[in-house]
Amino acid sequence: MSHGISIFVTIMALVNILAALWLIWWTNRGSKVPAQETTHVWDGDLTEYNNPLPRWWLWLFVISIVFALGYLVLFPGLGNFHGVLNWSSAGQYASDDSAARQAMEARFAGFKDKTLAELSQDPGAMSTARNLFALNCSSCHGSDARGAKGFPNLTDQDWLFGGSEQAVLQTVSQGRDSAMPAWGAVLGHDGVEQVMAYVLSLSGRKAQELQDSAQALSAGGTQFATLCAACHGADAKGNQILGAPNLTDNIWLNGGTVDDIRNTITNGRTGHMPAHLERLGEIKVRLLAAYVLSLSQAASAPPAHAAQ
Ligand code: HEC
Ligand code: HEC
Repeated sequence: MSHGISIFVTIMALVNILAALWLIWWTNRGSKVPAQETTHVWDGDLTEYNNPLPRWWLWLFVISIVFALGYLVLFPGLGNFHGVLNWSSAGQYASDDSAARQAMEARFAGFKDKTLAELSQDPGAMSTARNLFALNCSSCHGSDARGAKGFPNLTDQDWLFGGSEQAVLQTVSQGRDSAMPAWGAVLGHDGVEQVMAYVLSLSGRKAQELQDSAQALSAGGTQFATLCAACHGADAKGNQILGAPNLTDNIWLNGGTVDDIRNTITNGRTGHMPAHLERLGEIKVRLLAAYVLSLSQAASAPPAHAAQ
C-alpha cells in the first residue's frame, strides 16, 4: 500500500486501541463506589443498578489490549510495518515447502541406488509408487492400471513398446508417440472390409458381413503384406519400435468390436504418452517404472487371450 495509506491505517489502528483503553478507564472511574441505584424506574417498581465491571472482565480487556499491541509489534498489521519477526505468509509457505521437500528427499534417498528389480520387491517403495501412480498416471491408465480405450492396460504382458526394464523406463521418462495412418481413402470401402476380415482372422475371429470368403481373406492378406506389414510386421505381431500393436492376440488398444476395428483402419489412430522425467525427477520415474513392471509380473503367465 502507498505510504499515505500505510500511515493512515497505522494511526487508525493505534487510535482504536487507545480508545478502548480510555473506555475502560472511563467506565471504571466510579468503581470504588459500591453498587448504586440509578434514578431510572420502569413499570412503577422496576429499577436499574449501575454496577462497575467485574474484575475478571476488566482484566480480560486489558490482556487483549496488551496482546494486540504485542502482536502488532511482532507481526505485520500496522500499515507497511513488517513486524520485528519479519514473518510473512509467503515466507511461511516457502519454509513449510522446503521442510516437506527435505522430508521427501530423505524418504526417497533409500531408493536411489536400488535396481528396478529390487525396487519392485520392496514393499515400502511399492506403496510410495502406488500413490505416485494414483496421482500421475491413473487419470489415463485407470486407478487399477488396466487402461481403457486408447490407454493401454499396464497389468498384462502385452507391450506396445516393450516390457524390458530399459523400455519401460524409456516410456515413462521420455513418453511415446505413435500413429496409425488412415486407410479409408486409400483402400475404399471394400478394401477396408477385406483387410479387416484378414486382421480379424489373425485372432481367429470372423467379420460376418463378408462371410470371410476365401477370396476376401486372400485379397485382404495381400493388402496387409503391402500396406500394413511395414509397421505391424509380416507376421502381424507388431513392432515395439513404432508402438504398432500385435494384431494376432485379440487384445485391442482401441476397442475390439468389429466397428471399433473398422473405425481404426478407416480413420487411423494416434497415441500419446506424455514424458514424465522432467516433471517428476529420476527417482520417482524409476519407482513408477518398477511399479509397472511389478504389476505385469503379478499378472505373470502369458497374457489372457480373452476377447474383450
Ligand atoms: C495423458 C494420458 C496419460 C498419462 C497421464 C500417462 N499415460 Fe502412459 N500411456 C498413455 C497412452 C495413450 C499410451 C499409449 C501410447 C501410444 O500408443 O503411443 C501410454 C503408454 C504407456 C506405457 C507403455 C505400455 C506398453 O504397452 O508398452 C507405459 C508403461 C505407461 N504408459 C506408463 C505410464 C505411467 C507410469 C504413467 C504415470 C507416470 C503414465 N503412463 C501416464 C497415456 C498416458
Ligand atoms: C506407419 C505404421 C503403420 C502402418 C503402415 C499401419 N499401422 Fe496399424 N497401427 C499402427 C500403430 C502405431 C497403431 C497403434 C495406434 C495407437 O497407439 O492407438 C496401429 C493400430 C492398429 C490397429 C488397432 C490395434 C488395437 O489394438 O487397437 C489395427 C486394427 C491396425 N493398426 C491395422 C492396420 C492395418 C489393417 C494396416 C494396413 C492397412 C495398418 N494397421 C497399417 C501403425 C501402423
